[in-house]
Amino acid sequence: MPTPSVPAPADNRAAVPGLITTPFDASATAREVLVGVDLTGKRALVTGGASGIGTETVRALAEAGAEVTVAVRRPETVAGLVPRVDAVRGAGRVRAARLDLADIDSVRALTDSWEGPLDILVANAGIMALPDLERSGTGWELQLATNYLGHFALALGLRDALRRAGSARVVAVSSGAHRRHPVDLEDPQFERTPYDRWVAYGRSKSAMVLLAVGIAERWAPDGITANALMPGWITTRLQRHLDLETLRAMGAADEAGNRVEQPFYKSTEQGAATSVLLAASPLLEGVTGRYFEDNQEAPVTCDGTGDGVAAHALDRGTADRLWEYARSRL
Ligand SMILES: NC(=O)c1ccc[n+]([C@@H]2O[C@H](COP(=O)([O-])OP(=O)(O)OC[C@H]3O[C@@H](n4cnc5c(N)ncnc54)[C@H](OP(=O)(O)O)[C@@H]3O)[C@@H](O)[C@H]2O)c1
Repeated sequence: MPTPSVPAPADNRAAVPGLITTPFDASATAREVLVGVDLTGKRALVTGGASGIGTETVRALAEAGAEVTVAVRRPETVAGLVPRVDAVRGAGRVRAARLDLADIDSVRALTDSWEGPLDILVANAGIMALPDLERSGTGWELQLATNYLGHFALALGLRDALRRAGSARVVAVSSGAHRRHPVDLEDPQFERTPYDRWVAYGRSKSAMVLLAVGIAERWAPDGITANALMPGWITTRLQRHLDLETLRAMGAADEAGNRVEQPFYKSTEQGAATSVLLAASPLLEGVTGRYFEDNQEAPVTCDGTGDGVAAHALDRGTADRLWEYARSRL
């Protein structure tokens, strides 16, 4: 599987009627998206909130008044974020909780100890392009286990808390990498087919869109909505498994090995914008089962290139089959 290139985004939304639009473009930051939004009294949980896009998601939600639980493998890594949020007048409390998404017992420990309603769940944590096939304790390919199954188990375990919030929102952080790689329910764990790091990552991100579709279908009677998103391209620790040759091929490093910021890359503040838009903006009230990028609903793309969402990721039948596959293995 060749290294995917990262094309500059092309705006192909204007021609598609019926898509949800907002006044925010790709350059908007998470804080800008939440200007005038008061989340006092709301409770949010953000996975992977100690770095990258997650940190800015936590910060924007907390600064808008939400009480935010940052679910991370190493709770001590959240310590630096707390005083920065506390310094903002009106900000909600930020606390850390231990969570290893690749370990279902760890997910259960968090969901079993959760008390009270949960208004916002941002399934943000993720890993990308592990060079070699690695497996979780239960034998799942590690990207599918971390990016998808852990979040599936988390959402299931927190369902009652989400229901009690009355109109809770689930936000599934996907990636444009989903477009080329549908989930493969014949051999999801690479038991019969050769492992490929990009296929594994892409499948896990297709699964995240399907998670939003599955929740949207099943939990609407409880007032729970769910949407998925592509945050954009942002230089973060996510790229830590990529070697120099790969980064060069992607245009993310120069010949000397220095990281290159392409003009269309986003800052982490911009990268978190679509997450908080879906999590908390009144513009998205009642919207469910959809996929967004650059703060707009994305059109369905037919050939897997450019922007947009692949039809395979919105397919209800696949969402149902994936849901049952995962549930039967928890
Ligand atoms: N950056 C981009 O260009 C881009 C593009 C498309 C999609 N995304 C998506 O955006 C999300 C955030 O990524 P990012 O760019 O902000 O990268 P990041 O800084 O590496 O953040 C990912 C977070 O996930 C956490 N994590 C990894 N494995 C975990 C596990 N087993 N249990 C719990 N937490 C775990 C990491 O925590 P540790 O410190 O414990 O490793 C880290 O805080 C990811 O889902 C990614 O796929 C990013």
